Amino acid sequence: MISSEVKLYTLEEVAKHDGEKDRRVWCVIRDIVYDFTDYLEQHPGGGELITEFAGKDGTVAFDDFGHSSDAKNDMKQYKIGELVEEDKRANRKKKIVNGNEVTAETANVQTRRPFFKILCGSCVA
Ligand code: HEM
Repeated sequence: MISSEVKLYTLEEVAKHDGEKDRRVWCVIRDIVYDFTDYLEQHPGGGELITEFAGKDGTVAFDDFGHSSDAKNDMKQYKIGELVEEDKRANRKKKIVNGNEVTAETANVQTRRPFFKILCGSCVA
């Protein structure tokens, strides 16, 4: 049987591979752990754009640029695993709002609502 087990890492483990303490450059994008060491020199605009996020979560910077689907496909070959459940973005950003535990996503909806309420009155209750 071919094993399809995904290797799981904590953010603490990822942080050890920051290109300095360890020569490898690991990076997290959307809860997936990549080793981009062998890609750095090929990156348009330079490897420093990636090493800035070595050992860290680079999701926001990666998305901010709005990479092409070719780039997104290309990066799949550098995947080495995924984050453990408790370190995934949604769980990491849990916080308490009005006594309730919410994720970053629900917190955003809650903070956006008053704005829409101003725009269209009671249509967003
Ligand atoms: C934290 C990670 C990353 C950041 C912050 C980042 C940022 C950027 C930026 C700013 C550019 C524009 C460069 C320029 O035009 O001078 C760019 C282009 C590009 N990047 Fe990245 N990048 C990251 C990771 C990656 C990875 C992992 C891949 C693929 C394995 C990749 C593939 C590309 C490609 C192919 C382009 C050319 C435009 C495109 O096809 O979207 N990047 N990146």
